[in-house]
Amino acid sequence: MTATIDPAAPILLFDSGVGGLSVLAELRKILPDAPVIFAADQAGLPYGEKTEAQIAARVAGLLGRMSERYRPRLVCIACNTASTIALAAVREVLEVPIVGTVPAIKPAASITRTGVIGLLGTAATVRQAYVDNLEREFASDKLLLRHAAPGLVEAAEAKLRGQPVDQSAIDSAVAGLRGQPRGDEMDVVVLACTHFPLLKDELARAFGDGVRLIDGAAGIARRIEYLTKGQQFERGGPDCAITTGTLEAFTPLAKILKAHGLETLERF
Ligand code: DGL
Repeated sequence: MTATIDPAAPILLFDSGVGGLSVLAELRKILPDAPVIFAADQAGLPYGEKTEAQIAARVAGLLGRMSERYRPRLVCIACNTASTIALAAVREVLEVPIVGTVPAIKPAASITRTGVIGLLGTAATVRQAYVDNLEREFASDKLLLRHAAPGLVEAAEAKLRGQPVDQSAIDSAVAGLRGQPRGDEMDVVVLACTHFPLLKDELARAFGDGVRLIDGAAGIARRIEYLTKGQQFERGGPDCAITTGTLEAFTPLAKILKAHGLETLERF
C-alpha cells in the first residue's frame, strides 16, 4: 500500500539561482495548485565554475537538509549543471522522487534540418560525460557544437533584478557557436542551462530567424505532473522562495518571485 501524501507537501524546486524560474513558469501552467518551495543556492552561484566534486557534495548536502526541513513530495533539480553531475549522488540520499534537468539534445536532433545543432551551457555542463552520452544516443548522425557561456548566467540574474542585460554576453555566446566550423549551418540551439530561457528574446534576436531555441522546461513540468498524478494539492500557506545567500541580495528579486506566485522570502 502506498502512503498517502500530505496535500500541503510541497514540490521543492532547486537551482543555483533564478534559473529555476524558467522551470517554475512551466510547472505553474500545468499544476497551478501545487505548493512549491523555490530554493536558490545564491551562496553557491555560479555552479558552472565549480568542480564536479564541489557541485556533487554541495547539492547532495543541501538537498538532504532542505528535504528534512520542508518534507517535499518531490524534488526537482531545475539546473542542468547540478543534474548532469549530482543526480546519482542526490538519489543516494533522498527517498522522494527526483526529477533532473537534461539538455534537450533528443528533441533538437529530431527537429534540425541542417543536422547542425548548437548547445549553450555552463562550463561544467558542456564538459560532462552525461552530454557525451546524450550526443552518442540521440545525435550521432548530427554535428553538435558546444559552447560554455557563463556570462549568460550573470546576465539572467541581472535581468531579473531589473538591471540592463549585458549585450556583449549575448553576442559572445552567439559568436562562440557561430564561429565554429559549420556554425553558419546551425538551425537549432539547445539552451542547456535553466538561466538561459530567461534571455530567450535577447538570444533569439541575436541568432536571427533561422535558428530555433529549445529548452527542457516544459518537459520537466510534464514529468513532475506524471509523477504526482492522482495526488491532492492544497496550499497550507503562501509559496515561499528560500536562499542560501543573504536576504539583502534576494530582496531585489521579490517582484519577479511574486510574479511566479512566491509570496514570501526566507533565508535557509
Ligand atoms: N542554472 C544552472 C544550470 O542550469 C547553472 C547556473 C550556474 O552556473 O550556477 O546549469
